Amino acid sequence: MTHKTLPKIELHTHLEGCAPPAFIRGLAKEKSLDISGIFNPDGTYAYRDFDHFLQVYEAACTTLQSPQDFYRLVKAVLEESASHGVVYQETFVSPDFCGGGDLAAWRDYLAAMESAAAEAEAEHGITLKGIITCIRHFGPDAAKPTAICAVETFGDFITGFGMAGGEMVGRPGDYDYAFDMAREAGMPLTCHAGEWGGPDMVADTLRDLKVQRIGHGVNAIQDTNLVAELADNGVTLEVCPGSNVFLQATGGWSDHPIQKLRDAGVKVTVSTDDPPFFATTMTHEFDMLARTFGWGDADFNEINQTALEAAFCDDATRAKIA
Ligand code: HPA
Ligand code: ZN
Repeated sequence: MTHKTLPKIELHTHLEGCAPPAFIRGLAKEKSLDISGIFNPDGTYAYRDFDHFLQVYEAACTTLQSPQDFYRLVKAVLEESASHGVVYQETFVSPDFCGGGDLAAWRDYLAAMESAAAEAEAEHGITLKGIITCIRHFGPDAAKPTAICAVETFGDFITGFGMAGGEMVGRPGDYDYAFDMAREAGMPLTCHAGEWGGPDMVADTLRDLKVQRIGHGVNAIQDTNLVAELADNGVTLEVCPGSNVFLQATGGWSDHPIQKLRDAGVKVTVSTDDPPFFATTMTHEFDMLARTFGWGDADFNEINQTALEAAFCDDATRAKIA
């Protein structure tokens, strides 16, 4: 059973986290950087737990040093995504990893990503949109210039604002300045919550940052009232089951809460997060959902429809990918 050719809409990926290890090794070699410690002998990324994953991720990012590097990254990532049937992808991009949060530098990186995305669309029929994310463990002060980059470049390609990084650092409300700025500019919002934090983290994120979508959100399952609230308010969860299973944020596939959340009427979508880091692809996610929960074409169609409605893009793009 493979779902490789089924069309897919993916809302939650981290651009640098989609970089194949061989791609990062190649950049490191070109630049004579020694990052051999972040790889296993078999060439895959090596890390012990989520906090170490974030360190390895940032070490991999040190090889991405120019707009041209990001151009090549976007081309490589979209070719791979398209090979798994992905027709529309949203990806988190962070000015912190593109010139350190400087707006002028950010514009150059962004132009390179946009031209790569346009070429990939022509070549593979896949549409990419970018969601600018601040990095939670870099702190609230670093989130402000990130929000400035976001509001200044919000448009056809940059279509939303969010937050990634270490979920257990601070509280959501600490980042309200950045989220307020993005919301006032009309940007749709999402934030990682309830992957490591409990239902209280999801509830505080909704209350204090007023986001439309939650990255992960799976720990909401521990609070029946919160689950009902998510369903009533139409909050969309960007669920990444393979990531959760690999990082042991949840139990194994058969214990994963996606089915229970869906049964409770919560809008759930399916994404890979950082596919080469978590040994997954969109094909693998769909295959495992079919095998574990018996999902078939009607279920996958519903998931795609939910993702299409929750996508941070304009209606013309929505019509094109529907
Ligand atoms: N979760 C949170 N922050 C991240 C991730 C992730 O999977 N990848 C890169 N930054
Ligand atoms: Zn994520």
